Amino acid sequence: MGKAFGAVAGVGAVGSLIAMKQSWDPLPSVKAAGFTEVDLSSVEENKLVVEKWRGKPIFILKKTAAMVAEQSKEELARDVIVDGAHFMITIGLCTHLGCIPAYREAKKDFLCACHGGEFNASGIETKSPPPSPLVIPPFKVTGKTVMLGEEGPEYQKMKADGVVA
Ligand code: FES
Repeated sequence: MGKAFGAVAGVGAVGSLIAMKQSWDPLPSVKAAGFTEVDLSSVEENKLVVEKWRGKPIFILKKTAAMVAEQSKEELARDVIVDGAHFMITIGLCTHLGCIPAYREAKKDFLCACHGGEFNASGIETKSPPPSPLVIPPFKVTGKTVMLGEEGPEYQKMKADGVVA
């Protein structure tokens, strides 16, 4: 009986160790240090998704067809196109003093409550004090996913066009 109990307890301990190990491990999508892979296939239009990359919030906003149709060239140049859909992907920190702006679905813009700065749905500042647009992180598009932290050809084009520094 003692042996049987010991064996059961042993199996239980191994089970908890495996469970603990699984919770320590990074998600399969976040295995490579500094890179975060995000699957955009289930992102809904006009609903802000916030991911995390290198400790920073990342805003992901899928634009509606109407939003895309109304865009200026400058706004279009900032779009990340994944599987035919247009996304705004930026670091979610206000370029004034680093607060996290809130997305207003009805107005399709961002308000930074700290000092009243505003950004449009492409992350371009529309009301001061923010001095510049929300920053687009390095990204690489593969199928329906983006890898944050990697400079793919789309990001390099933005660089060449002066959209990102
Ligand atoms: S930190 Fe956003 S407006 Fe000042």
